[in-house]
Amino acid sequence: MRTLVKNIKELVQVEYQPKLCAMGKEMSRMETVKDAYLLVEDDTIAAFGPMTEIPNTHFDREVDATGRMVFPSFCDSHTHLVYANSRELEFVDKIRGLSYEEIAKRGGGILNSAKATAAASEEELYDMAQQRLHEVMHLGTGAIEIKSGYGLTTESELKLLRVIRRLKENSPLTIKSNFLGAHGIPMEYRGHQEDYVDLVINEMIPKVAAEGLADFIDVFCDQGFFTVEDTERILEAGIRYGMKPKIHANEMAISGGVQVGVKHGAISVDHLEQMGDAEIEALKGSETMPTILPGCAFFLNLPLSPARKMIDAGLPVAMASDYNPGTSPSNNMQLILSMACIRYRLTPEEAINAVTLNSAYAMGVSREVGTIAVGKRANFYITKPIPSYEYMPYAFGENKVERVFLNGKEV
Ligand code: NIG
Ligand code: FE
Repeated sequence: MRTLVKNIKELVQVEYQPKLCAMGKEMSRMETVKDAYLLVEDDTIAAFGPMTEIPNTHFDREVDATGRMVFPSFCDSHTHLVYANSRELEFVDKIRGLSYEEIAKRGGGILNSAKATAAASEEELYDMAQQRLHEVMHLGTGAIEIKSGYGLTTESELKLLRVIRRLKENSPLTIKSNFLGAHGIPMEYRGHQEDYVDLVINEMIPKVAAEGLADFIDVFCDQGFFTVEDTERILEAGIRYGMKPKIHANEMAISGGVQVGVKHGAISVDHLEQMGDAEIEALKGSETMPTILPGCAFFLNLPLSPARKMIDAGLPVAMASDYNPGTSPSNNMQLILSMACIRYRLTPEEAINAVTLNSAYAMGVSREVGTIAVGKRANFYITKPIPSYEYMPYAFGENKVERVFLNGKEV
């Protein structure tokens, strides 16, 4: 099946020699082709170039994109998309002055979600998550990482991961799963959280691995949550069972999370609202993608991660939604792209790299997706008529995506 997309006003983020990620100054480089075509063969990008060079061959389907741009699908490398309940009452508590940590201490937050998750069936969780994925997909996301972490018991964590497995099997999105048993400390383990860490290590990880349910292992390594020592033990156990670390770090405090992630070869360290020079130094020369979650900082009014400083220091930066009911109830990567420019002062080119190629790297799929390159999966969207690619971050809050293609098929 050959599909030709023709008369593309501008084909954005093309690569002739695909890179695994874009670092430092490379982040400001982004190539485009004006008045372009894109040729898809089955689920793969077969060719692209200017309209004057369309291959002389037969096409099964032609799509006319006159006045519209084509972008590679967003890659959202950090989400908690499987959850049972929204938490807008805590949102109101926050407006009235309670902090995220205070809400967590009194049993709200992640524990609130865990209670609702325990009460929900796998079927119910699956139906809700599938509906969310459907919406995410039509906003332009083509690859997504999804974490467990609202279970906090062996049974519930397995239930969440089985939901993610079903989503993987049934969705056209590229999905990676992440086991986040160490997301919160259940009430009954308060004061002796090392016993909960033991449960994660001795019971949960082996069971998760036995069913092959997780690509990654995650820990919420932060003040008031899991310590660096807890994190080390859990990451080492996960690694023994073939899971790659990908962790939450430095949201509440300079927690040592960045360093412990780098030390264990984490594919990414995420949040990074609290970063000193030592954290930036630790990331230099590593294979760990620093990942910023602008929706969470916005929703909780947290300090902004020093994205500019990191890029100027030569580091790559990825950005993701952190889609979850507690700290970032937004599924919209178009909004993250806007925040990257507006709040973090990334140029549109840097921001596009952050939400496509670099976030693909942060979930280990940048060989397959994240840019328009021959041989990569045909995951892209056609915009509504827009004047320029800079309009994408500029017109924040507006849905600029008109048609979505995943694996070469319109969805
Ligand atoms: O990434 N920071 C830790 N975990 C999630 C929030 C979870 C929640 O509050 O439900 C996050 O922000
Ligand atoms: Fe998160």
